[in-house]
Formats: sequence, C-alpha cells, structure tokens
Amino acid sequence: MNIKYRQTIIAGNWKMNTLASGAKSYANALCPLIPGFYAWCNVVICAPFTSIHAVVHAFKGNKVSAGAQNMSEHKSGAYTGEVSGEQLRDIGAEYVIIGHSERRQLYGETDESVNSKILAALEVPLHPILCVGESLEERESGVTTNIVSAQIKNALASVPDSEISRVVVAYEPIWAIGTGKTASPEDAQDTCREIRAVLANLYDAELAQRISILYGGSMNEKNAAELLAQPDIDGGLVGGASLNPTAFAEIINAAKGGL
Ligand code: PGA
Repeated sequence: MNIKYRQTIIAGNWKMNTLASGAKSYANALCPLIPGFYAWCNVVICAPFTSIHAVVHAFKGNKVSAGAQNMSEHKSGAYTGEVSGEQLRDIGAEYVIIGHSERRQLYGETDESVNSKILAALEVPLHPILCVGESLEERESGVTTNIVSAQIKNALASVPDSEISRVVVAYEPIWAIGTGKTASPEDAQDTCREIRAVLANLYDAELAQRISILYGGSMNEKNAAELLAQPDIDGGLVGGASLNPTAFAEIINAAKGGL
C-alpha cells in the first residue's frame, strides 16, 4: 500500500452466495469488529444483484459501500435478464466488478465486452473493479506479464485521463481463485508493479500512482497482512473469506498495519 497516493480498498466478492435476508446480521457482526476503519480503508461488499439493496440498508451510516459483480454494457432496452449500471446506482451500488475470470471463463466475456462494460460503468457513474489475471498454464510458460498487460490495454481502450483514477484494478491469478493457493507476496507484488507500469505507459506515471490495484485469489485473514504490506498492492478482492464477517474484519484490520 502507499496511502500517500491512493486509497486502500478491501472488497468482498460474495459471488452467488448469501440471501438478502442475511445482510443485516452480517452487518451487525462485522461493524463492531472494524471500529473507525474508514480512516484507512474503503470497504466494499459486492453482493448478488438480489442482495445489493439489503446490503446498502444494512450498512447505512457505517461507510461500507455496496457493489455488484457484473452489469450490462447497455443502458436500457430489450436485453432480457440483464441489469444496467443505472439500475445498480439507483439501488445504492457504488462499485461493480467487471471481467471477473469466472465471467470470462463461464459466460464468454471477452476483452471487448469488458471494455464496453468499463465505459458504461464510468458513464453512470460507478467505480469499475477491473479483474485481470493469468491461468496456471500461462504463468508456467512465463507469459503472465504479456497476458495481464493485454487485458489491461484492451479493457481500458477509450478510457480518458479524466476518468482513469476512478477505475480500480484487481489482479487475480486464476489459479489462486478459490483454490487456497495464494500468489506469494513477491509474485503478487511483481505483477501489480508491472500493471502500474502498463498504466503509466497508457496514461502517465502520476495518474498511475493514483490507481488502486488490489490482489485477489485466496486472500484470507492469515495471509492478508503480508500481501497488503507490498508497495503496489493497495487492497484485496476477497471471495470465500468475505463470507465470514470475522475473517473479513481481520483482513480489513490487516490493512491498518500498513499505516
Ligand atoms: P477467493 O475469490 O478469495 O475465494 O479466491 C476471489 C475472487 O474470485 O474474487
């Protein structure tokens, strides 16, 4: 982290878990464990569409933001089953995960659709959390930097200088997601530093310094402090461990250690 230049963000990705009716008890469990956290960190909960409204209400007055896990690239119209950015904003969402590897792998999302969604999110406005990351095969064949750089460049096509600091990047090696295998702090730092170099090339070094880059992939209460201590890792996108308010609170509190 480097809190002089950029915001620390700990975002939970609940994936297709939880019910709206559980939001209040989750908030009641989490809030007492993270007193005063907003002084050092933005906490975001990216809930299923059906729970976002409940999350917004459950955390009212507690400075925890709600987010979605996907959105349509379209504004409105005949897109059965889709949800627009404006609809998300309307129920109180402030963030949206875009291009998560599960959406790329299971639902055919491409760099092009990810780019359209990033542009649509910025227009609403929502903060997009852009996910990038390599597969195990790609890491083992030494092409991580090429893959991640291309994902970043394609996803950010036509995003102007004036908007880029509202984008959050999440580096999520696919082989680390939900597997219990975390990237070592050094490997995660190396790739996050390379991501910042790509951003500096696309924009400039000063703007790149202001973009929060999160690490995601089996981050938990035991490994968070070491990952968050890396200079180019500005927070976490946390899946499994965010479902447990005690573990999530420990991760949020680990972000304080960097101060
Ligand atoms: P995980 O998921 O923490 O369960 O590995 C992270 C993510 O997919 O965002």
